[in-house]
Amino acid sequence: MQRKWWHGKTAYQIYPKSFCDSDGDGIGDIRGVIGKLPYLRELGVEIVWLSPVYRSPLADQGYDISDYYSIDPRFGTMEDMDELIARAGEMGISIVMDLVINHCSDEHEWFRKACADPDGPYGEYFYIREWHEGEKLPCNWRSYFGGSVWDLLPGHTDRIYFHAFHKKQPDLNWENPEVRAELYKMINWWLDKGLGGFRIDAIINIKKFLPFRDFPADREDGLCSIRRMLEKAQGVYLFLDEMARETFRPHDAFSVGEVFDEKEEDLPFIIGENGCFSTMFDFSEKHIGADPRGWYASALPTPEEYKAAVFAAQRRCAGVGFFSNIIENHDEPRGVSHYLPAGERSDAAKKMLGGLNFMLRGLPFLYQGQEIGMENTVFDSIGDVDDISTLDEYRVALDAGLTEEQALAAVAPFSRDNARTPFQWSAEANAGFTAGTPWMKVNPNYPRVNLADQRGRPDSVYEFYRSLIALRKSPDYAETVVYGETEPYLPEEKDLMAYFRRGDRTLLVAGNFRAEERTMPLPGEIGALLINNLPELSAADGAVRLAPWQFLVLELA
Ligand code: GLC
Ligand code: MG
Repeated sequence: MQRKWWHGKTAYQIYPKSFCDSDGDGIGDIRGVIGKLPYLRELGVEIVWLSPVYRSPLADQGYDISDYYSIDPRFGTMEDMDELIARAGEMGISIVMDLVINHCSDEHEWFRKACADPDGPYGEYFYIREWHEGEKLPCNWRSYFGGSVWDLLPGHTDRIYFHAFHKKQPDLNWENPEVRAELYKMINWWLDKGLGGFRIDAIINIKKFLPFRDFPADREDGLCSIRRMLEKAQGVYLFLDEMARETFRPHDAFSVGEVFDEKEEDLPFIIGENGCFSTMFDFSEKHIGADPRGWYASALPTPEEYKAAVFAAQRRCAGVGFFSNIIENHDEPRGVSHYLPAGERSDAAKKMLGGLNFMLRGLPFLYQGQEIGMENTVFDSIGDVDDISTLDEYRVALDAGLTEEQALAAVAPFSRDNARTPFQWSAEANAGFTAGTPWMKVNPNYPRVNLADQRGRPDSVYEFYRSLIALRKSPDYAETVVYGETEPYLPEEKDLMAYFRRGDRTLLVAGNFRAEERTMPLPGEIGALLINNLPELSAADGAVRLAPWQFLVLELA
């Protein structure tokens, strides 16, 4: 396998609105990120992905871009962005931006021009169709945030346009070569600034199954999940390969795709040696327990389901390329609240979950706050919810007959807002995030969970993550940690998740996924104890005793 500059790195996602506010307006900003660069270096991360900071009405928190060439004033200026790229670069940190190109904002000038003249050239930038009151829509697909993918084109009564997400996010027509050329020009403009690369948003959606047509309805609204169309759409990789050729490859840029529902045979085209992306996120565990009726009917994963999904993903990418491994991101609840059995919030368990994920083959992505064990937040009422997706799922729950109280309780564990509360820097006011009023309520647990308390405390979640990152970089172990194969160990053992990483050395990674002690036979002699989330290790007679939630990385002799 050809070695790439990013293979051995640890990546970190920043949700800028909630990371650090430098000017007291309650909104995190780019200067806030600049101020925390020394912190990121101390943690040891070397790729930093920023969720969108482009100009945007923030209908979907910046995933609705109205100008790809400017920074939203709430986040700062282009000078701030240039400074961030330069200062990070000096510290050995590559900045990666979010690339939201399946759609733009309805306030983007392309869409405004399309509304002004749907038959003109900009009409072809979007999916616009003629439609008259009382007629059937071109298809019955449900948008990701609820309701039909079709809406009336602003200013018209006989035209409709397509949006896979919110109605303020009209889909760009990738079939139009002019659109693609405009997007590639913009990507290169950013890469020429010295950006490390991009995280590519919602990219699987750019290829529509055309002509539009209905699929069998899967809810009482008569609509069907848009994912049915993704199963049918062919040829997305022709677009992606063209994009890679025109932009990423000539810059040797890093690219990580938000890809889901890919077909197994397509994996080599996505993340293989000559694939269109460097890597893509593994979302397989995210879909465990998901019910087509909605969040209110969905279940949390069990440890066994989690383990099975992760091992299956490791098998799929073996010999092909690297997945990017996560326990959470800005679209998911906090991993420690989602994957650990209900109520289990001990530091040991948090470390175990993080360690099991971090040591997998692939690129580890930490999400801001993960490194201090941030947890899901508390919603006192639906008024506390900001996320459009949660608001939609709440309505779906009410429509299914739940009371308001039940509906809130049912959607809360899945809310994207859980990950979007401000970073907990300290036990001071607003968790040290802002001197003003935070745009979103701080998680009330911040006096207990915050960085200031953990920094320098050897048994903290934070110092544990630092030691994982250091192991990944260490000259003795990097080869195995980065390139070694994954092989499950005792996969049938319930609530034990263990695997080998086999490279020039052999590591055994093991986590006891339950609140009871257990014994695990050892497949060989222990050569070295590299990581232990608890103070002690008890090994005798070819076995180790694992305390509740104990996590170990051992080198076998
Ligand atoms: C991706 C983003 C999510 C956003 C959606 C639409 O899934 O991660 O936050 O809402 O795309 O852009
Ligand atoms: Mg601010």
